[in-house]
Amino acid sequence: MSTPAVARMRIHLSAACSIDGYMDDTSQRRLVLSSAEDLLDIQRERAQCDAILVGAGTVRADNPRLSVREPQLVEERIRNGLSPQPVKVTVTASGDLDPEAHFFQSNGQENIVLCPAPIAGALRSRYARSATVIGMEGPISARAIAHTLQRKGIRNLFVEGGGRVLSMFLSERIYDHFRLAIAPFFVGDAGAPRLRLLPHLASHDRLVVRQVRLLGDTTVIDYDLARGVRWQKVSTLSAN
Ligand SMILES: NC(=O)c1ccc[n+]([C@@H]2O[C@H](COP(=O)([O-])OP(=O)(O)OC[C@H]3O[C@@H](n4cnc5c(N)ncnc54)[C@H](OP(=O)(O)O)[C@@H]3O)[C@@H](O)[C@H]2O)c1
Repeated sequence: MSTPAVARMRIHLSAACSIDGYMDDTSQRRLVLSSAEDLLDIQRERAQCDAILVGAGTVRADNPRLSVREPQLVEERIRNGLSPQPVKVTVTASGDLDPEAHFFQSNGQENIVLCPAPIAGALRSRYARSATVIGMEGPISARAIAHTLQRKGIRNLFVEGGGRVLSMFLSERIYDHFRLAIAPFFVGDAGAPRLRLLPHLASHDRLVVRQVRLLGDTTVIDYDLARGVRWQKVSTLSAN
């Protein structure tokens, strides 16, 4: 087994995109990229984690429930000694989150809001009954998030989006697995969200393809991050 990105923790990233790499379009409607089969597989992934993380942008745009819906998966979690539902986590710098959002509803599980320390007091008052607010000192990085959640006892973290949060984890190489689902259509809208790695951090590591699956019409590629394998630029490669 490879060395984890963060000791005693497994971090699993998940993204869905169009053939041209977009994670949504620019309309108000939620763009469904995944097939029903892919969505069910994501439910299985959720069912194995201690916590699900999305950025505040996704909470505002999609209002996701971030829950395990299939009753048999909930029962499996309980049999495996896990809580019925994973902890929900979001990160915000602005603190602009609707207290009525599904994120703040709970079926007994904890909801965690990570934010800069200076606004933590105000957010604690606003979400007093619906979330644990953790103020973080200094810039909030993927590594800092992982360490904060590790101290909360999270061992398996599933990061489900959106573009900015996933780009941060990918740029910093704070992950063990990356699940990429590719929907069989184009978005073709240059203003739409996509992965944008931080240029000063982005590494050129080649990932290891663990498996490729066709779930309905959606191609799902599971990558592992193999530390230390560097990308070699081949400038004269020819197909002839
Ligand atoms: N296809 C997919 O797999 C998928 C999955 C999820 C979402 N999406 C789509 O992605 C879009 C949302 O993506 P996004 O990039 O706008 O949002 P996002 O990554 O979900 O959230 C970005 C927000 O998170 C907070 N944040 C992120 N990094 C931070 C940091 N280091 N420090 C402090 N706060 C931080 C900030 O919140 P504040 O603005 O509150 O400061 C930031 O604006 C939506 O269109 C959604 O539908 C797609």
